Amino acid sequence: MSKKNSIPKHIAIIMDGNGRWASKRGLDRSKGHLKGYENIKPNVIYAKKIGIKCITLFAFSTENWNRSSKEINFIFDLASKVIYEESKFLNKNKVRIIHLGSIDNLPEKMIDRIKKSEEMTKDNKDFTLAVAFNYGSRDEILRAVNKIIDSRIRSQLSEEDFESFFMTNMLSNPDVVIRTGGEKRLSNFLLWQSAYSELIFFDKFWPDFETHDLDLVIDEYNNRIRNFGS
Ligand code: FPP
Repeated sequence: MSKKNSIPKHIAIIMDGNGRWASKRGLDRSKGHLKGYENIKPNVIYAKKIGIKCITLFAFSTENWNRSSKEINFIFDLASKVIYEESKFLNKNKVRIIHLGSIDNLPEKMIDRIKKSEEMTKDNKDFTLAVAFNYGSRDEILRAVNKIIDSRIRSQLSEEDFESFFMTNMLSNPDVVIRTGGEKRLSNFLLWQSAYSELIFFDKFWPDFETHDLDLVIDEYNNRIRNFGS
């Protein structure tokens, strides 16, 4: 089934290349994360304007714990500040914020801010911004299995039943997964949910991704034929 001029409902983004963006300029990697953060807002505002309903951002993976504590602390402080400072703006713009990932090992202050921003925005229906932070797809699937074991369910599950145990249970599957930074892999991001997503890769680093690139994504999406295996 080919679709012309259709706008994907849900776009998921692997915002890769912040570190390389900074290194290329002789800057500390933290400057790349800062620039990467600053690049989120214009793209989210534009996505909402053109009719996209949900953006999921991969901001910190379960594997990112292997980075230096200096870099981890910087990303945590930045994310904590972002949640605190942007929640009111997002709420005013009818954006619902959802955290995907485990709160295990996250700083208390950050957990508190995540919960408050989710609670404050829970009734917003216009747009959803899902932030995958301390998220890994295998971890999510394993947690779902363990929840099922704990609940002592003994009957066979459908795919829908199984998905209801996922952290993404209130989101539709992404229509498109974008990865910036030149690598062409999913890196443990939404593995189940992206089974039929269109994968679109950019060589440019995330801080260089522009709203114009979102237009290119929409064009490419409309050129793809999605038949879901039929
Ligand atoms: C990937 O680039 C980027 C990250 C691991 C961190 C991204 C986090 C932010 C922009 C903070 C935003 C916070 C919120 C709450 C949305 P990389 O470091 O892997 O780059 P490299 O591949 O060049 O090393």
